[in-house]
Amino acid sequence: MMRTISQWYKHFGVDHIFYDIKIQQNGKDREISKIDFDSLEKLRDFIMKIDICGLKKIARNTVFSDGDPSSEIMIIGEAPGEDEDIQGKPFVGQSGQLLNNMLRSVGIDRKNVYVSNIIFWRPPGNRNPSSEEIAKCMPYVKCHIKLINPKVILLLGGVAAKSIFNTNDSVTSMRGKNMEYEGIKTVITFHPAYLLRSPEQKTLAFLDMIKLKKIIL
Ligand code: URA
Repeated sequence: MMRTISQWYKHFGVDHIFYDIKIQQNGKDREISKIDFDSLEKLRDFIMKIDICGLKKIARNTVFSDGDPSSEIMIIGEAPGEDEDIQGKPFVGQSGQLLNNMLRSVGIDRKNVYVSNIIFWRPPGNRNPSSEEIAKCMPYVKCHIKLINPKVILLLGGVAAKSIFNTNDSVTSMRGKNMEYEGIKTVITFHPAYLLRSPEQKTLAFLDMIKLKKIIL
């Protein structure tokens, strides 16, 4: 029997609302599905069950999130690396250690923030996620943000910033700007993995962390 996407979701026991929005990409309107879950648990259950972008079947674990869902700060990175794939939690490897230090430098404890990624599964060999994989995960990321409803989103690196703002602008040109996503303030900064390779940029990243701290004061 042929099933529609909605029927498949129901088949997997997922209760959700499903409708269409138009987004602008390269000056053209593109139809994408907007998926709306009414609770974080339902979104998490769905992400744990379904292979949205084809990476789940080759990953060890689904990496949904870590931290406090009631936090004022939501942090969004790119995709899990090897350590995250093994542990099933975002930012637990070397980049995660640096992220924790960046937060600590402005008096924020990692356990008091909420952390997730644009992609919920590790791309093989830590390659960059493809634009197709990103497009398939984005409706869920947008729903995730809506459910957390943070005061500020810290976007780590180009993939996170470009995907949220649907732009090809570089992270260097976006950082330092006051950009809002759906009425939520954002702070765009370098990805910790990039900072590990380019420590001279840590000064700018520290300024971004001060900006983050001022927003939640
Ligand atoms: N890099 C990311 O973007 N996310 C992680 O969870 C780990 C490393």
